[in-house]
Amino acid sequence: MLTVAPRTLSPSPFLHIPQTNSHFLTSSSIHLFQFSHSNKIPLNNCLSNNRTERGLDFDIGDTFFRHESATGRDLGVLAAALYRKSKGRLRVLDALCGCGIRSLRYLVESEADFVLANDANDENRRVIVKNLSRVAENIGDNRRWLVTNCDANRVMTEFYLKKDFFDFIDVDSFGSDSSFLRPAINALKLDGLLYVTSTDGFSSGGHRPSQSLAAYGAYVRPMPFSNEIGLRMLIGGVAREASVLGFYATPLFSYYSYHGPVFRVMLRINRGRIHKNRHYGFVSYCEKCGNSQAFSWSELGQMSCPCNDSRVSESLVVSGPLWIGPLHSADYIEDILTLAKQWEWIGNGQGKDLEKLLRQMVDESDSKLPVGYIKMDEVASRAKVNSPPLSTMMSEMIKAGYAASRSHIASNAIKTNCPMAECIRIAQLQRNCLGAHQVT
Ligand SMILES: C[S@@+](CC[C@H](N)C(=O)[O-])C[C@H]1O[C@@H](n2cnc3c(N)ncnc32)[C@H](O)[C@@H]1O
Ligand SMILES: [Zn+2]
Repeated sequence: MLTVAPRTLSPSPFLHIPQTNSHFLTSSSIHLFQFSHSNKIPLNNCLSNNRTERGLDFDIGDTFFRHESATGRDLGVLAAALYRKSKGRLRVLDALCGCGIRSLRYLVESEADFVLANDANDENRRVIVKNLSRVAENIGDNRRWLVTNCDANRVMTEFYLKKDFFDFIDVDSFGSDSSFLRPAINALKLDGLLYVTSTDGFSSGGHRPSQSLAAYGAYVRPMPFSNEIGLRMLIGGVAREASVLGFYATPLFSYYSYHGPVFRVMLRINRGRIHKNRHYGFVSYCEKCGNSQAFSWSELGQMSCPCNDSRVSESLVVSGPLWIGPLHSADYIEDILTLAKQWEWIGNGQGKDLEKLLRQMVDESDSKLPVGYIKMDEVASRAKVNSPPLSTMMSEMIKAGYAASRSHIASNAIKTNCPMAECIRIAQLQRNCLGAHQVT
């Protein structure tokens, strides 16, 4: 961590600093507010615009709130709870908290020792305080939660300058506002978790390369797997900011949701720089043959597609630099699955969508799978046949010795190391077989 003079800034007039060092709350001090994951908390007053999520009632007032982001919140809560279990403490900053639903869930479900719920819009304050008031504000002399209404960067910078770090920071921002990344990394403890967001589908789609370059340092061009590129652009942006500060970032999971769209990534931040060229490079897509490849920095200027006899090819579309490593840690997702099962969020017919998502993430983590995915529509169009069933294509690829998995990002696509030419051959063979069966 960079060395800073202790308390060089006077406290902000807007920022209410916790009176106590709730940093070091012990696990025995969190029993004031008991919660069962399957129970509902009773409402004791009339709410103006109330909602329920995972059994918790809360008011959204006039704040920005999306019901569709519930899965992203579930994943954050599970990750924070795992952190709390492994480290024995959890101090959260919900930096752009809206109505405070995440803060409430981190307190109740993840059993955070302390949550700072911040939103720049002070008109949200009443509703945030009302929602968090379901949890006792203090435990003895220690504060459990606090509401501030400041610019998130100011809050994070002030806490960093006080060397008062967080274990977990949730940055639920709009668009491709990457200005939050560096202050967030600064305000995080070593080995802490950073949960970041982008909602900029235009940039990930390659329609605003100057914007993606300005925000994440990546020149992004249109590619068929643009929503995976959106996640890689965001991870790459964090990796770059972390590296400036002498840290490296490891993605634990990456989640794309088409509502919005929303790109969310959970990263662990540690000391050390990105290894030479490792997992941070360029991605190409060949418009002529449909193949994609990842390139390292040392291959700059030598990018070509095998379909063009290794000569520099005009058909090659290149984006980067981006994260070209794994999108998730399979072990980490397995831990999330175990916890979700313990909490009865999945299993016994519950939470089929969440379980399916997590299992797809595990499958996507296979280290043999390259960047991107192949859309079945593209295979069908290149093969000039109707698309065979995705499951048939996958099992034929696996039979032929390739790795193949569904993608949580695109339902009609396969992540595979099977080259496009081979996909086309399999699709044509399958269609011929199906045709033959239909004739007989
Ligand atoms: C996507 S909404 C948050 C939604 C909330 N996290 C949830 O899960 O329901 C983004 C919030 O950021 C707040 N905001 C915008 N710019 C901000 C800034 N610079 N600092 C802090 N909050 C900001 C907005 O007022 C808005 O409530
Ligand atoms: Zn090619």
